[in-house]
Amino acid sequence: MLGQCTAGRKAPSDPEPESKDGSQPRDHSLWRGVRHSAAPAGEVAEAIDAEYCRGVSAESEIRTAELVAALCLATDLGMGFPFEHGLHTTLIGMRLAERLGVDRPTASETYYVSLLAHAGCTTDAHVTGEVFGASLTTHLNPVMYGSRRQVLSGLMRALPAEDSSGPTRAAEVVRRLPRMARDKRPHLTAACEVAQMLGERVGSPASVPPLLAYLLERWDGHGPLGRAKGDEIPLPLRIVAVATDAAFQRLLGDTAHVVRVVQRRSGHAFDPEIAACLVDGIDEILEPDRQGSAWEETLACEPKPVRRLDGDAIDRALAAIGDFADLISPYLSGHSAGVADLAGAAARGCHVDEAGVTTVRRAGLVHDIGRVAVHPRVWQQPRRLTADESEQVRLHPYHTERVLSRSPFLSALAPIAEAHHERVNGSGYHRGAAGPQLTLTARVLAAADAYHAMTEPRPHREPLSASRAADELAREASAGRLDADAVTAVVEAAGEQAPRFARPAGLTEREAQVVSLLARGLQTKQVARALGISVKTADHHVQNAYRKIGVSTRAAATLFAMEHGLVAWGELPIARTTRRS
Ligand SMILES: [Fe+2]
Ligand SMILES: [Fe+2]
Repeated sequence: MLGQCTAGRKAPSDPEPESKDGSQPRDHSLWRGVRHSAAPAGEVAEAIDAEYCRGVSAESEIRTAELVAALCLATDLGMGFPFEHGLHTTLIGMRLAERLGVDRPTASETYYVSLLAHAGCTTDAHVTGEVFGASLTTHLNPVMYGSRRQVLSGLMRALPAEDSSGPTRAAEVVRRLPRMARDKRPHLTAACEVAQMLGERVGSPASVPPLLAYLLERWDGHGPLGRAKGDEIPLPLRIVAVATDAAFQRLLGDTAHVVRVVQRRSGHAFDPEIAACLVDGIDEILEPDRQGSAWEETLACEPKPVRRLDGDAIDRALAAIGDFADLISPYLSGHSAGVADLAGAAARGCHVDEAGVTTVRRAGLVHDIGRVAVHPRVWQQPRRLTADESEQVRLHPYHTERVLSRSPFLSALAPIAEAHHERVNGSGYHRGAAGPQLTLTARVLAAADAYHAMTEPRPHREPLSASRAADELAREASAGRLDADAVTAVVEAAGEQAPRFARPAGLTEREAQVVSLLARGLQTKQVARALGISVKTADHHVQNAYRKIGVSTRAAATLFAMEHGLVAWGELPIARTTRRS
């Protein structure tokens, strides 16, 4: 018997998830504005190096379940399910497994199979978006385990666009039907294969990926891929099938509705013994997860031994999550990994320490996970987006934050990842955060994302050449949208020549550096030492800068520096405000 998976409480002997303080990343960016100086030497520069170039402390270990559960949250977004639906499904599956008295390896397989059940949902998503005009989740999922006729009827309802009617609707069905018939089996095969590959990369038990080949099988052998029937279907899959339908039907009705549906499907889609087990314990199995967050309970529910990832295995798993996101459009293949590599190299060029470089690179791997919440058709549009489509796109970094914020490990990446479309002058999205609120690492990721995206094809344009992308990026910096130092580092990391920028108020590069250092509280003498120039020259730069900016005090110059992105948040001795949820 399992014994340790009980709704509403953690097993006393279960180790707590890794204790992470969830603290915000420290900034480490006093080098901004200094890095171009000829000789940032001397005591001040050393002090700067020691104090400010420390990176975000990168955790060395994560529970596999934490990462896979985050992927499961992303699949909720991709499927159009309520957030945490996949976790609730897993809890139902684990309660079923416990009642069935399965052994511990089977329980572990059930756990990971359930969390990964929809990991293939972004496979060929653009094709599915073309074939089906309406939502498969709305029309197919309620009858996915029903009779053949019900399944076919669900598919037909999903073919025409939601708003079509009468003759148009019929014509659309006729037009789309052949492609659906042709693509169905290859698509489902591919979705299973992708789930298997991702399952392996995120570190699930070695026995789990092969099981995912049976995700779509039915007890009666009439599954769409027809790979097995009855007892030939591995037990974890038979449990997950009942749990999946029970969880979905619970969204549509009360427990009596769930009982009716599951009983009707017993012996057809479902193993009768498992269906009966669900019906017998329906209240205990379904009701406990109606309240509160399922995150902690899901983590507490992992059968022992608790699995962990460290070192390269973490990067491999995060890269798998990035690939899962990129699968939503063929235009995005390799985007997340490319951005991560570029951002990591650029962060190193900005003198961020190795822990910080690791954090930026990992944030890059998962920065676009929120893309899966946007309909695949939107990413394929060659035309101008509608207001609704634009809003979907605008919110994808917010969804990134939602996916990352539950896990203590991943939440340390969230402030950088979710800010990848923010701009220094506040013109970005989704928060519209402005200069002082954006850390250097966030600025580096934003610049890396912009550069890499420019070099990739999009439905409405060809990819830009590396040099053209570097020019465009420089223009963004000159316009005050991207951080000049981050852009320089990204362009250099990409192997292109560093651009020159126009600084605000006509400041020269050196004057901008001086203002930046003044804003951090350095006296003129310290500025001179940091930049390796004489005090007289430093004072000359200060006076020139004040005149150009139109101020006469350090306070006003500091305000100007913050407003125009000459200092990043965290560089100034001000308290960080609580991050909005
Ligand atoms: Fe993005
Ligand atoms: Fe991106």
